[in-house]
Amino acid sequence: MSKHIGAQMLEFSQKGDERGHLVIVEGMEDIPFEIKRIFYIYGSDKEVIRGQHANKKSEFLLINVAGTSKVKVRDGKGNEAVFSLNRPHTGIYLPRMVWKDMYEFSEDSVLLCLSSEHYDSTEYIRDYNEFVKLVNEEEAG
Ligand code: TYD
Repeated sequence: MSKHIGAQMLEFSQKGDERGHLVIVEGMEDIPFEIKRIFYIYGSDKEVIRGQHANKKSEFLLINVAGTSKVKVRDGKGNEAVFSLNRPHTGIYLPRMVWKDMYEFSEDSVLLCLSSEHYDSTEYIRDYNEFVKLVNEEEAG
């Protein structure tokens, strides 16, 4: 199902030794875009649902570098998938034009987000019905 959606779990190389772990994520090497922006989310309660939007342009890579959370992805065509983020060397790749909800944050959750674009509020779609409409318009060409 996730294949239809285009979201994909990725596993990154770890350079672990007796000093600890080091995980590497390089733009266009380990993920399919150049990184223009990073931000991170922490201190969200378990009941909180974040995200609740789609992006016209931005692609994302989400990694729980500490703690855990879940991401529900919807493609606006009836397909959805839930991913658990629970290991610091794995992340979920989110293409443009998918609806995402992030939720069930553990108390120690630090959710690192890498993005292909600088922040631009006008490329955020925050109304689900509008998102479905735009998906259908893109489908129709
Ligand atoms: P929001 O998109 O609601 O966060 P999330 O989807 O991750 O729950 O963003 C919260 C606020 O921060 C909102 O006012 C927009 C602002 N913001 C920026 O200014 N730059 C950014 O890169 C991001 C992600 C958010």
